[in-house]
Amino acid sequence: MSPQRTSTTMELLPLVCLCLLSCSGDAVRVVVEEGSDAVLPCLISTEDLEGNKFDWKKDDQKEVFMYDAGIHHNNGRPGQDEQFKGRVSHFQDQLMNGNASIKITRTKMADSGTYSCDFPRHQPRQTFNIELVVDPRIKVVVKEDSDAVLPCLISNNDISGQVFDWKKGGQDVFIHYSDGRTTQGPDFTGRVSHFQHQLQNGNASIKIRKTKMADSGIYSCIFPDLRPSQTFYIKLDVAFDQVLRDRTGEVSGAAPEPTIHRPRDTKDSSLLQCEAHGVPPLKVEWKDSDNNTLKSESTPESEKGDRSSITLNITVTKTDNYRCVATQKKISHQIFAETSVYIQGAAPEPGSNGWFTGFVVVGAVLGLVFIVLIVKKCRKGSTPVAANRQPDADDDTPMIETEPVLVLHHAG
Ligand SMILES: *[C@@H]1O[C@H](CO)[C@@H](O)[C@H](O)[C@H]1NC(C)=O
Repeated sequence: MSPQRTSTTMELLPLVCLCLLSCSGDAVRVVVEEGSDAVLPCLISTEDLEGNKFDWKKDDQKEVFMYDAGIHHNNGRPGQDEQFKGRVSHFQDQLMNGNASIKITRTKMADSGTYSCDFPRHQPRQTFNIELVVDPRIKVVVKEDSDAVLPCLISNNDISGQVFDWKKGGQDVFIHYSDGRTTQGPDFTGRVSHFQHQLQNGNASIKIRKTKMADSGIYSCIFPDLRPSQTFYIKLDVAFDQVLRDRTGEVSGAAPEPTIHRPRDTKDSSLLQCEAHGVPPLKVEWKDSDNNTLKSESTPESEKGDRSSITLNITVTKTDNYRCVATQKKISHQIFAETSVYIQGAAPEPGSNGWFTGFVVVGAVLGLVFIVLIVKKCRKGSTPVAANRQPDADDDTPMIETEPVLVLHHAG
């Protein structure tokens, strides 16, 4: 009984995870840097998609990519949104595995949003959501309360007589008019300035004084009168005093960003390896997106001169963003690197839906058998047993100890 029970419990685990994922409605998140390529994952594992149909849309309206039995947007199908023309492809050799993932090349900021991958012919109809976040390539990191220069340069143009406009999301930050006047947005009054003498070199950079955490976000530098109009994006990150995410390692004695390697990926786990260097004593930790510290194996701290290095391994089994955080205790400097892990086994796979239904059916059968057993026992007059068993139904391994284990085992 015991080995069976173990294997059954093992089989139940992914199902439970599956339920948690699909029940929480969390979309898979893909983060890429502006200009690089993004693969949006979508899998309906039990199906051969070659003669089938799938449809990708953005924000429920823009047609991104449709495939229908070999006809798609790259071989003549009309109707693809302008934004995606010539930038989206599917993986032909993966179709037979039910892999409907697409690749978007040369991502733009405007590609950020929620994508849906829809299988209209699947019964019941299946739709999955994938969130794409495109991060600006230019990032500025400053400590709270210090000044930030946001760079924006339009090559060798004298822009002293030109309009340029800085925004943060939809909010005004700074406007330079063609007559040289400037205005500042309500949240930035008295805090933003431009570099007057640099205008003739096409430099539209601004300086924000005394930055607050709330200033963090994505800024755009817009030249509305250029033909075509030009927009540049800059990400500003205002960090707590100690939590300085310093990509350049400029702070004196500060550690460079740790490096993350991913030496091994399997279907249901990923091995992540973090390599951190810095001034000892150095502490390195793996954290998940909820900021929980995860259990991991580290190599002993090795020291070379005044530098020390640590490698920290962790095997993760869940789709999430994982951070490797290095802390230099002596100078209270903290820095991290982040990676997104997508575990196909744990993702809301459409193909598992059959499984899932199977699980529900088996559960119902089990419940029925269980009730019959209880009723039988009650009739025999052994009421205490039945009474004792009922609360058990709530614990981790409900009903698995009874005979129906075989039913479940075969069904799985
Ligand atoms: C789907 O195919 C792409 C391209 O080969 C691959 O990168 C991706 O990992 C595949 N996805 C799954 C879930 O197998």
